[in-house]
Amino acid sequence: MARPLILDLDTGIDDTLALAYALASPEVELIGVTATYGNVTVEQGARNSLAMLEMFGATHVPVFLGPGHARTRSSFEVAEISSFIHGANGIGEVEIPDAARAAQDTSAVDFLIDSVRRYGEDLVIVPTGPSTSVAAAIEASKGFADNAHIVMMAGALTVPGNVTACSEANVYQDPEAADLVFRRARDVTMVGLDVTLRTLLTSADTAQWKSLGTKRGEVLAALADYYIGAYATTSPHLGGCGLHDPLAVAIAIDPDLATYVELNLKVDTAAPLRGRTIGDETRLGQVANTRVAVSVDVEAFRSRFMHRLSALASASS
Ligand code: BDR
Ligand code: CA
Repeated sequence: MARPLILDLDTGIDDTLALAYALASPEVELIGVTATYGNVTVEQGARNSLAMLEMFGATHVPVFLGPGHARTRSSFEVAEISSFIHGANGIGEVEIPDAARAAQDTSAVDFLIDSVRRYGEDLVIVPTGPSTSVAAAIEASKGFADNAHIVMMAGALTVPGNVTACSEANVYQDPEAADLVFRRARDVTMVGLDVTLRTLLTSADTAQWKSLGTKRGEVLAALADYYIGAYATTSPHLGGCGLHDPLAVAIAIDPDLATYVELNLKVDTAAPLRGRTIGDETRLGQVANTRVAVSVDVEAFRSRFMHRLSALASASS
């Protein structure tokens, strides 16, 4: 039976690729998307998720709105660098129609809590944006931290950050929330820059989607090309864009794609190290609650990624 999956997305180009990977994977059943802020506002993220789900023919997947800003702030503004990397609309300035339906009335936090109650450890939650909603669920529900199985795209343990010298973007958006998740959740896998910057997508790959001659292939290629173009400016040495968020989904489905260090993690919240993911010195010797992915089978993941997304993109919308 397919394993139930929730994606917590700040949709986002690589979030869109993560959504596509999940929809193309028979091992999981996407039971909902929770929207968060980050690459875009929470409203724009929900809009993009709904529009993409419609394009992929997945109008049965509900979308829920999470909090619109970090827990220590009262508002959120999209950073200039986010618009540069993902486009002002979050999907590389690619125009696709709004979905015919809207987000649910239930909040993302309530949906997360109810889903963990209903499915327990069978459920896998994959956050690929700031941890604000998951942290709120931990605080609001007694059983959530003990029963949620979380595989998150976040952090950087053995490599530098991508926003500051030591902080990765999703953690940097809400360091207090990520810290709470690492300290309180019982079962966390961190898929951070340590591995996601090794799995790259190139314009030779996106040319394959373009050549399919379908609307889906055209859209996926156009948004990924935008992302590859941004990376050519910010990280020219890579030769492609990092497949951050889809790698988290792939590892949630098949943990054997990576190898891990088991650790108790914390997030520094004070300057100058704000947003750094690092071992928690107060829990040395205690049973570790987090597995940090430190190496990845690049070829296996890339070939699975291309195979699955090409199959999804082959169908006409
Ligand atoms: C993460 O930051 C966001 O911009 C991406 O969508 C990804 O989730 C990479 O640091
Ligand atoms: Ca993201």
